Amino acid sequence: MTATVEPASIVEHSPPQRSAIRSMTRPPSIAADAFFAELASVLPRGDAASLVVTHLLPGQMNFLPALGQVAEVSAVLPKPKSADRRTQDVVSETHRLDPLDRGRFADPDWLASYLEDRSDGRPMVLVDIGGYFAPALSEVCRMLPGLIRGVVEDTENGLRRYLALPDLACPVYSVARSPLKEPEDRLVGEAIVFSVETLLRRLGEVLPGRQATVLGFGKIGAGIAAALHARHVRVVVYDRDPIRQAQAVAVGYGRAAFHDALTQAELVFSATGNRAIGMEELACLHDGAFLAGATSADDEFDLAGLVRPRSGFERDDVVPGVARYMRDGRSFSLLGSGNAVNFLHTSAIGPAIHVIKAEIIAAAARLVTLPHEPGLYEVPHGTRAEIAAAWLDAFQPTDSAPAPVTVASEEGALL
Ligand SMILES: NC(=O)c1ccc[n+]([C@@H]2O[C@H](COP(=O)([O-])OP(=O)(O)OC[C@H]3O[C@@H](n4cnc5c(N)ncnc54)[C@H](O)[C@@H]3O)[C@@H](O)[C@H]2O)c1
Repeated sequence: MTATVEPASIVEHSPPQRSAIRSMTRPPSIAADAFFAELASVLPRGDAASLVVTHLLPGQMNFLPALGQVAEVSAVLPKPKSADRRTQDVVSETHRLDPLDRGRFADPDWLASYLEDRSDGRPMVLVDIGGYFAPALSEVCRMLPGLIRGVVEDTENGLRRYLALPDLACPVYSVARSPLKEPEDRLVGEAIVFSVETLLRRLGEVLPGRQATVLGFGKIGAGIAAALHARHVRVVVYDRDPIRQAQAVAVGYGRAAFHDALTQAELVFSATGNRAIGMEELACLHDGAFLAGATSADDEFDLAGLVRPRSGFERDDVVPGVARYMRDGRSFSLLGSGNAVNFLHTSAIGPAIHVIKAEIIAAAARLVTLPHEPGLYEVPHGTRAEIAAAWLDAFQPTDSAPAPVTVASEEGALL
């Protein structure tokens, strides 16, 4: 069950603050900085510190100063498969970068000592992408009572890792199912298809007219299917959940049994986060098929057998990002080593990224200013509406006056 701490009062937002960030011609990075500066102007200054698991991607890091105001960023932990070199260099000028390692983070003794060191005596907010803090969370909360103020988790996969715990030992905010996340999900589908198309074009191939299967018609799979449809690709969807399958069929996509969905497709996109494809499924793939994933290879595929010496597969690295595997006169190509293929090309999604980062910061602000029982939380609707209004003002202003609404808590303005 999702609990919410309801905002205590609604106060007026002064129009000059809003008009200060208005401009039809402002470049996106300046608009993003202005958006987060406005956010910071209404956020509390907390005495907490934060650790921030994040992609390090161009155009996506503007949120760090505003988050740092709420809970000083004691270290940034880049996700290894989505750390752009130049972005990393820029962020390292102002922030400590620590390595992210699922194995070490699962060890309570190691994690407790690491958190104690980085907290410098302050309570900590853990900003997560992918459930890195989940395995050792209960044990660390028991070992160091009061140290962890709470967790803010960005993704669906990460949310599932927290939900799988027998109980939550501290408050955990999730933004994965927020309406403010929906544009990102849609645009990630677009970015995944862009990357696959880019790789195919390097091989002299194109998308239009092909037959594709999308496994998983969730938030990302629906975006992939829409982006493929827009490129004149014939799309079949397979989702094991009949509700999702019906949604796909109802909006016009084809349907097939799992085995047929694999054998008939020249392109297979796996967006389940649930290891839908293992070694057995590889044997069913259409000869010459391309296989692409939406999340970390370990979460999407179970392909450990591919690299075993006796697998019988021969690997040919055709171009960067495309590995062809051949056996018994048949082949398939794995794109981006099975990892989320959009990160091969920066996974750019434009200003949509900032609106969900703002919700993450608002969640952190709630953790540092409001008392919470352990449990799962979402940011209240009124706060989301306020973030959306500020984002619209920054990136798509109109001449009419913005709605003067600000959500505040008894302790001070949150947003
Ligand atoms: N690449 C990126 O930038 C990016 C961004 C956000 C999320 N993701 C990842 O993409 C994955 C999907 O996320 P989502 O938000 O769409 O999740 P979701 O829960 O909304 O959708 C997953 C869908 O897969 C279906 N499914 C699960 N197991 C299946 C199986 N074995 N066969 C067929 N269908 C199956 C489920 O029924 C569900 O409809 C997650 O791992 C998520 O973390 C990637």
